[in-house]
Amino acid sequence: MTAISVTVDGVKYDDDVEPRTLLVHHLRERLGKVGTVVGCDTSNCGACTVLLDGHGVKSCSVLAVQADGKVVTTVEGLLPTGENGGLHPVQKAFHETHALQCGFCTPGMMMAACDLLNENPDPDEREIREGLEGNLCRCTGYQNIVRAVEAAAADLREQRGAGSKTEVSS
Ligand code: FES
Ligand code: FES
Repeated sequence: MTAISVTVDGVKYDDDVEPRTLLVHHLRERLGKVGTVVGCDTSNCGACTVLLDGHGVKSCSVLAVQADGKVVTTVEGLLPTGENGGLHPVQKAFHETHALQCGFCTPGMMMAACDLLNENPDPDEREIREGLEGNLCRCTGYQNIVRAVEAAAADLREQRGAGSKTEVSS
C-alpha cells in the first residue's frame, strides 16, 4: 500500500492505496465520487474525465498514486460562479441547450468542456469539436453539446468581464 494525499473537490483526503489502483476507482470506491463514471475499458470514451491540477485527464488511465499531492475536480465539484450562484455555467448551459444526455457521457462531456474553456475562453465550433473529440456518445448527435459549450463560453466571458471567477476550482 502507498500513502497518498489528494485534494478532491476542495477536500483533502489521506489514504493508503494499492499502487495499481486507478484514479477513477479511488474516486468512486474510496471517496464516493460516483458522479465520475466508467463507460469503457479501453480509455476511449472520456466518461471518466476529471481535472487534475486544472487539466482534463481520463481518470481510468491515471493511477491514484499519480494524483498524490495534486488537486482533482470532479463533476461533483463544479462550483457556481458569478453573482447569482446556482449552477456552474457549464451545467447551466448543458441544461438550457438540451445537451444533457445519459449519465455515462454527460459528466465527462462537462469536464472536458471545462478543460477546453479553461484553455480557450472563446473557442470556435471547430475548436469545440476538437476539444471534445476524446469524449464519445454512442447514441445521439453532438450538436447541442457544441451549442452548450458556446453558451457556457459566452457566460464565462461575460462573468470575467464583470470581474468574477471564471474557472472551475483546481
Ligand atoms: S472510462 Fe475512462 S475513457 Fe472510458
Ligand atoms: S452515451 Fe450518453 S447519451 Fe449517448
